[in-house]
Amino acid sequence: MQTTVLHTDEPEHLHRAVAEATRLLKAGEIVAMPTETVYGLAADALNADAVAKVFAAKERPAFDPLIVHLPTKQSLNDVADVPESIRKTVIQLIERFWPGPLTLILPKKACIPDIVTSGMPTVAVRMSSHPIFKRIVQELGRPLAAPSANRFGSISPTSASAVVAELDGRIPLVIDGGACLHGIESTIIKIEPAEPKPMITILRPGPIIPDDLKQYGRLQRHQKHLVNEVSEAPGQLASHYAPRTPLRLLESPKDFIPEHGKKYALLSFCGDADDGYVDLTDWHQIMILSPGNGKLPEAAVRFFYALRELDHSGADEIIAEPLHEHGLGIAMMDRLRRAAAKF
Ligand code: TXA
Ligand code: MG
Repeated sequence: MQTTVLHTDEPEHLHRAVAEATRLLKAGEIVAMPTETVYGLAADALNADAVAKVFAAKERPAFDPLIVHLPTKQSLNDVADVPESIRKTVIQLIERFWPGPLTLILPKKACIPDIVTSGMPTVAVRMSSHPIFKRIVQELGRPLAAPSANRFGSISPTSASAVVAELDGRIPLVIDGGACLHGIESTIIKIEPAEPKPMITILRPGPIIPDDLKQYGRLQRHQKHLVNEVSEAPGQLASHYAPRTPLRLLESPKDFIPEHGKKYALLSFCGDADDGYVDLTDWHQIMILSPGNGKLPEAAVRFFYALRELDHSGADEIIAEPLHEHGLGIAMMDRLRRAAAKF
């Protein structure tokens, strides 16, 4: 299959790209397009045959369910049954965070095919704030099932060229909308009724950080890290988001003993020599997430791009510096641990 990349930098290009994406999606085809988190590989969520093409292109196992992206907040009721016991909290959350990078796990409606939810009684839903994604899903007027547009288990794409590197020849169309705003996949939460406040469990940390959520309920971080077993967020395997080059999360620079003749690459947070990592060895390549001052949002935007670069650098091993585990640092450390767990 020939993969076409359509650009969106001029109004007429954008118009043509949106029209072509909508035409293909209506015809039961799959299209890669930008969201504010990472690029997604979208299919009509109500069309099981179209969704099957997403699983095939990604080589994704059938047990890993997809996120459904809604055209409007109101259409939540078309795909999910919001329990009365948590309705107030759900409404508060979507009023505050939608469109945006917050995914809710809710009981599903019968119209959502089993393939989307891997046969589970729940569906993951969010609404993307990306202007191009929003235009396409609203023009289509139907929900879009869209996982990240990478091969299963690999690094999420934050640019059209990264999508092409992952899926060239497997999908008909990539919409190039430039770099993604957040660079890290959406925060996934589950809400359960409790007194005096509902219980909010973070199944996958992301751009909506615990501080943003704490006023809406009692927070709990999902702690299961099962290797190659299905956990409560079934795609959240312990080993995930992984480069092909072995990656090691080095908790302290003191733990590093270089092997002779081995080429090492460094994923550094701010590139500051005082952190003890930059001068550890004669690095084959260094990627700095937020040069100088170490800003977490900037680090997140560059995170998957930097991992991808290091993966292609020809190094034998990638050494990752740990990040502070607060705010967005929680999400990046989660991805680094999963990347390291493969090796
Ligand atoms: O930001 C994002 O969420 C991106 C963009 C494209 O929207 N999407 C994304 O999708 O990261 P994906 O498929 O790479 O990750 C979705 C995660 C998986 O870990 C999956 O197991 C989990 O959502 N998930 C989906 N449905 C679920 C459900 N019913 N219950 C629990 N977890 C679910
Ligand atoms: Mg993914």
